Amino acid sequence: MEKTILTQPSATPVLYALRSIGYRAKTAIADLIDNCIDASAGRVQVDFLFEEFDGYIKIKDNGIGMNNDTLQNAMNIGSKDPRDSRKPKELGRFGMGLKTASFSLGKRLSVLTKQDGMYYERCWDLDHVSDCNKWELFKDIPTEVKEKMGEIEGPNGTIVCIDKLDRFMGAGTDKLIKESSFNSKVRRIKEHMGFVFHSLISKSKLSISINGNLLMPWDPFILDHPRLIEGEQQVIKVNHHKIVVTPYVLPHSSYFNATEYNDAGGIRGWRDHQGFYIYRENRLLHFGDWLGLFPKDTASQLARIRIDLPNTADAEWQVDVKKSMITAPEEAKENLKAIAEIHRQVSKEIFYFRTKSSYAGQKIKGSLNTWEPSGNDTGCGFILNRTHPILNEIINKLDSETLKLLNVYLKFVELGSPSNITHTTKPIDEEVQPIEDGVKELVIQFAKMMKDTGLVSNHEQLIDVLMTQPGFETLNRKTIKMIIEDGKIIYE
Ligand SMILES: Nc1ncnc2c1ncn2[C@@H]1O[C@H](COP(=O)(O)OP(=O)(O)OP(=O)(O)O)[C@@H](O)[C@H]1O
Ligand SMILES: [Mg+2]
Repeated sequence: MEKTILTQPSATPVLYALRSIGYRAKTAIADLIDNCIDASAGRVQVDFLFEEFDGYIKIKDNGIGMNNDTLQNAMNIGSKDPRDSRKPKELGRFGMGLKTASFSLGKRLSVLTKQDGMYYERCWDLDHVSDCNKWELFKDIPTEVKEKMGEIEGPNGTIVCIDKLDRFMGAGTDKLIKESSFNSKVRRIKEHMGFVFHSLISKSKLSISINGNLLMPWDPFILDHPRLIEGEQQVIKVNHHKIVVTPYVLPHSSYFNATEYNDAGGIRGWRDHQGFYIYRENRLLHFGDWLGLFPKDTASQLARIRIDLPNTADAEWQVDVKKSMITAPEEAKENLKAIAEIHRQVSKEIFYFRTKSSYAGQKIKGSLNTWEPSGNDTGCGFILNRTHPILNEIINKLDSETLKLLNVYLKFVELGSPSNITHTTKPIDEEVQPIEDGVKELVIQFAKMMKDTGLVSNHEQLIDVLMTQPGFETLNRKTIKMIIEDGKIIYE
């Protein structure tokens, strides 16, 4: 006897449930634009048209288009297995977005596509599905819709058209919205798209227009601001997948004029733009909070931390169908918390203007790196970053004598850092060696410090200490002796 019974889900309830999975108009439009980008489109045109009793939304691209089979499959609810691996940079995951996003806006979805000069079309009409309670897909798009869709110029491309906009504009209901509200809605969507796709637009030749207006990318990190602090980029491995974290602390409000300040505050305002910005394949998924690791507070509002995820990490980060929500895996939280803690602190310092003076006239981009490659003649592969805001804070509080001592100490921290210690043996040759001025100066400084602090009590002991000092390991005894005598460091 058969152990299972094939049970077909009822079409109407499933379709109506799918309409209610929580899309907002802007997440739905973003999901449809994702498909155009996945189809390698260089140009995406989104048009919202208001008409007296209904309107329509049209998304047209010049991507690769679809053939008959691909289109038929694309119209299926669940056209791909979410567990399949996707191509690098692909934005799709669930095989659902085209349908779920469209149905969250209206009841009719028409797709006209062209591949190698041949047109193909299909249409879902939820009124029809409801009436017959069957998954009946129309082979043809109704003439009145097709007229609105227009042509696809060039050999390949796709037009997605959604009408019977009951959800988007209340068409066919008693909540029909006015043209002015329709236009405000479109304006908000446009702003949001400029944000969601800013990174993709800036990094590629992609152009997206809404009602004929080109989307301007809105960069939340204000990368071209000379006073932006860009923290150390970190690569964190979470369950074999690398994610890249790039922290930024934005400048104090006094470095913006009123318009710039307003603009940098973004769609939601400064306070609600703090936190982690999660990008999946360069497309923004989520922003505006600290992923539950910290509450939002006004003084931390300058900290914005970019996290870049590959699409291979979707399962760990629980990317949802709408591509608008994620949950950070436990394995990532500790690292993210540590990174956020530092940058929230720096934000607070800047917000309260405490560190303003230390930045005057400096280009401080990159100054949150504690170490930076040197490339100069000090013998160090890496040097400490002297413009680090916390170091600046300390320096501002010191008198000149203590500052001198601190500087010498930092120099030796650099020389003694594991990456800078070269494992060379002392030269046996006892001739005075040729020596660069920078190194000579350093030996003198260090020797003076040793003598002045009373840590070394005679000449020979001083030479012994210098011989074992990291950074001076290539100098022989005769050379060190000569340097300290030249520097007039003499024990009575
Ligand atoms: N504009 C388009 N141009 C070419 N092919 C498209 C277009 N839109 C959709 N498709 C095809 O239809 C398929 C189904 O799209 P759909 O958005 O439903 O799922 P997906 O993009 O694969 O995954 P997700 O649910 O995560 O968006 C796509 O995988 C793609 O093959
Ligand atoms: Mg999709």
